[in-house]
Amino acid sequence: MLSGVDIEDSQLGAARAHLADLGLQADLRRADAAALTYEDASFDHVWMMWVLEHVPDPVAALKEARRVLVSGGRITAIEVDYNSVWTSPETDALRALFADVARTMEANGRSDTGAHLEGWLVKAGFGSVDPGERRLHYSGGELFRQLPYVAAVVESTLGTQHEAGRAELKTLATRPGAALGFTVHKATAEA
Ligand SMILES: C[S@@+](CC[C@H](N)C(=O)[O-])C[C@H]1O[C@@H](n2cnc3c(N)ncnc32)[C@H](O)[C@@H]1O
Repeated sequence: MLSGVDIEDSQLGAARAHLADLGLQADLRRADAAALTYEDASFDHVWMMWVLEHVPDPVAALKEARRVLVSGGRITAIEVDYNSVWTSPETDALRALFADVARTMEANGRSDTGAHLEGWLVKAGFGSVDPGERRLHYSGGELFRQLPYVAAVVESTLGTQHEAGRAELKTLATRPGAALGFTVHKATAEA
């Protein structure tokens, strides 16, 4: 059975609509990742993506994930390092834009969650930890496809600030030799 939690009703609503479009059944509940409403050893896999960057105590959330996993069950946790974003060409406006994204993430949680995943998983009691560092970079058609997503993340973080940087980001893929990259950790471990 596919199950999922989020602390925000609106996010659960969006997930329900998305799953319905895909024709998938799931039990979605409102819950804090650090206080799940499932019995011990309920799942054989936990997947969490871009959640630990927001929670006040990431190790507590990972301990809770381990509690609901069967012995030998696996976790996949995906987090980014917002300080690692680079663009080519690098302009003052784009540099200022991504520096402010990292600052805003830090003020509301963490900007470098990916870099901490391995240590937090060990502290939470997981074994066979693979930090899963991936240095992603996009250019050409891949950059065209990726940019709307990056622009949406930037806008959801900064709102309407940095008009010049956001405008440059939207047209980055039209510039000769353009590229954008960042470091993501897709960490895996065993309960
Ligand atoms: C950046 S979004 C990622 C959403 C989704 N995982 C994805 O990859 O598209 C972060 C999500 O974490 C949720 N969240 C923040 N703190 C949480 C907590 N303590 N427990 C559960 N969910 C939380 C937010 O409501 C939001 O939906």
